[in-house]
Amino acid sequence: MIFRQLFDAESSTFTYLLGDEKSREAVLIDSVLDQNERDLKLINELNLKLKFLMETHVHADHITGVSKMKEVFPGAKSIVHEDCGTNCTDIYTKDGEEIHFGDYKIKVLATPGHTNGCVSYYLDGLVFTGDALLIRGCGRTDFQQGSSETLYESVTGKIFTLPEETLIYPAHDYKGISCSSVREEKNLNPRLANKTREEFVEIMNNLNLAFPKKIQEAVPANLQCGKIHS
Ligand code: FE2
Repeated sequence: MIFRQLFDAESSTFTYLLGDEKSREAVLIDSVLDQNERDLKLINELNLKLKFLMETHVHADHITGVSKMKEVFPGAKSIVHEDCGTNCTDIYTKDGEEIHFGDYKIKVLATPGHTNGCVSYYLDGLVFTGDALLIRGCGRTDFQQGSSETLYESVTGKIFTLPEETLIYPAHDYKGISCSSVREEKNLNPRLANKTREEFVEIMNNLNLAFPKKIQEAVPANLQCGKIHS
């Protein structure tokens, strides 16, 4: 499989490009509007055919590149979970559904709690966890229909029950680490390792985080699939 982890330094967002060597079909997970030219160049350099633009959720910290990419690749279909609240997406998924490109299949795992439309995508020993589970952290639960109780159930019930060697690729990292594993996070995640649901909720209730800088523009734009009206 062709696999590229790409990084946007401004929002600390990872975008993932996955491609099938034979058919050249590819998917892009969590694209960032400001990085569309980089992604477009790479897709063309690798001679890939973009089939799906997949989002793990409606982001609050950057504007998605989905709409702009669709202008360049009109055959590419956008995908989000049906609870994301958009009405501009091509394909709405739900838990357990499969997304096929080339010889590969991605399984949708509904992992709500950071937002109610959050998913993780599982593929051959890799899981793209969006903001549900970060490396040694997790997505915040204090806006966008967030719920600490729901996030605890999603992580412990859906992600921590995957094989322990499964590699975790999140939507962000703020400390320069690019990958983890289910085993690592089960043992080392300070919010979730060996924590009860009550302990987790208590931790999440006391984070006292500042609001993301771009939330006022990013969420409305992302609910429109990244279309910006001028
Ligand atoms: Fe997020």
